[in-house]
Amino acid sequence: MVGRAIATKLVRLGHDVVMGSRAATSEAAAEWVASTDGRGAQGTFAEAAAHGEIVFNCTAGAGSLEALGQAGAENLAGKTLIDVSNPLDFSQGMPPSLFVASTDSLGEQIQRTFPDARVVKALNMVNNEVMVDPARLQGDHDLFVAGNHEGAKAEARGLLESFGWPPGSIRDLGDLTAARGMEAYLLLWLRLLGTFGTGYLNIKIVT
Ligand SMILES: NC(=O)c1ccc[n+]([C@@H]2O[C@H](COP(=O)([O-])OP(=O)(O)OC[C@H]3O[C@@H](n4cnc5c(N)ncnc54)[C@H](OP(=O)(O)O)[C@@H]3O)[C@@H](O)[C@H]2O)c1
Repeated sequence: MVGRAIATKLVRLGHDVVMGSRAATSEAAAEWVASTDGRGAQGTFAEAAAHGEIVFNCTAGAGSLEALGQAGAENLAGKTLIDVSNPLDFSQGMPPSLFVASTDSLGEQIQRTFPDARVVKALNMVNNEVMVDPARLQGDHDLFVAGNHEGAKAEARGLLESFGWPPGSIRDLGDLTAARGMEAYLLLWLRLLGTFGTGYLNIKIVT
């Protein structure tokens, strides 16, 4: 869902996108390619990562390290890697818990495993439709980014602005340790979903 939403937005913005999957012949990816009037392509995670100047990790958190391993460290080196994943553990049913929290995060695990990639945690706190169409929600609301590489954050910021996020709404939380809180927010997000009956919500910082 997330990969499809982001890839569709990128294609609409004129980018040349390859959707990666475990199987190069993924039916879901083929269906997405068919919807792009020939402007999108599909491939293995390695082919997608090799193709991209910027890489989005939109894989299930439990499979993210494996998926990025398949993408290949050499195909991620030097690139901005925008990590949208959440470390959700569904093994005990619903609601999920987190398989990493508090003193570490999946974003940091990804950065440690692929030290030459430039990981930026972003977009993981909003639903996939809001990611690429923030105006879908009424009023002002905020999006957080975190990462150890200023240049990568600037690159991510440019893309997020092109998605429709107002510059003043993109809040830089500093280095990648901020991903701990951004990922743990999912525990609250799941409760908000249950309380308000909708995932079309976000938060706004007031001071
Ligand atoms: N859904 C949302 O609105 C939303 C919002 C914020 C953040 N997120 C986060 O964004 C990520 C994607 O969410 P999603 O809802 O689009 O779908 P998802 O079902 O969580 O993930 C689908 C993707 O993960 C890959 N994948 C799953 N298990 C894998 C494994 N063991 N090894 C390698 N790859 C694996 C799939 O590969 P194949 O194509 O090969 O099947 C597919 O590319 C998740 O981490 C989620 O927590 C989701």
